[in-house]
Amino acid sequence: MAADKIVILTGAGISAESGLGTFRDEGGLWSQHRIEDVATPEGFARDPDLVHGFYNARRQHAAKATPNAAHTALATLEAKHPGEVVIVTQNVDGLHEAAGSRNVLHMHGRLAGALCAACDARWEAPPEMHKPDPCPTCGAPATRPDVVWFGEMPYYMDDIWAHLASADVFAAIGTSGEVYPAAAFVRDAAMGGAHTIEINLAPSSTVSDFAETCFGKATETVPAWVASELKRAAGR
Ligand code: APR
Repeated sequence: MAADKIVILTGAGISAESGLGTFRDEGGLWSQHRIEDVATPEGFARDPDLVHGFYNARRQHAAKATPNAAHTALATLEAKHPGEVVIVTQNVDGLHEAAGSRNVLHMHGRLAGALCAACDARWEAPPEMHKPDPCPTCGAPATRPDVVWFGEMPYYMDDIWAHLASADVFAAIGTSGEVYPAAAFVRDAAMGGAHTIEINLAPSSTVSDFAETCFGKATETVPAWVASELKRAAGR
């Protein structure tokens, strides 16, 4: 019998114990900044310096962060599980890759990425970005963080829906289930026959869509879940 394909959706909660803030918890990023000012194309058009300042600070903070036991456990799962393991992350930090995960889809983009709003060129972002910086490809002063803002289409959606349709196991880790389309992935996976599990500090808005739940801090719950998945795969 073929080994299970495991699709994992991660949110800000998996990076919380690495010192990176979440968005909607007490004191989270969206209690410090208005989404419409720093995470929409309209906000960027209105005040590009404010938006670049917000992402420059997050980029520099994230660059100093290190993966935690939850990121490391998922990298171990990808390395040791006989079936395919895919991480679809809403996070824009690079902690999954820093922990050794390779099969990672950043549906909301990456803090380490830069994008030219004029010609769509992409390159690795410098620590500090400013809108007048010329695009290295077309020279236009139209640089922006390669992060998906509210109102923009997330990246890799066709690949993600194909992975969800063929998943045997779908796990959502550290996400509040407040933002679509990611919040509906559990239903897409279940419709494809996947077993679904929510691994979170507290029940998300979509907790009732999951067949199984596991609550606690990611650095404790994720390594335990990975160990159980590897044991189950070995016993097949
Ligand atoms: N371990 C596990 N889960 C945790 C931990 C932890 N140590 N700390 C917090 N959490 C959980 C919270 O209970 C919450 O359910 O992580 C979740 C964080 O939710 P949000 O702050 O809403 O973050 P996220 O779900 O990733 O947001 C989705 O919204 O603003 C947009 O683009 C942004 O990608 C983001 C998207």
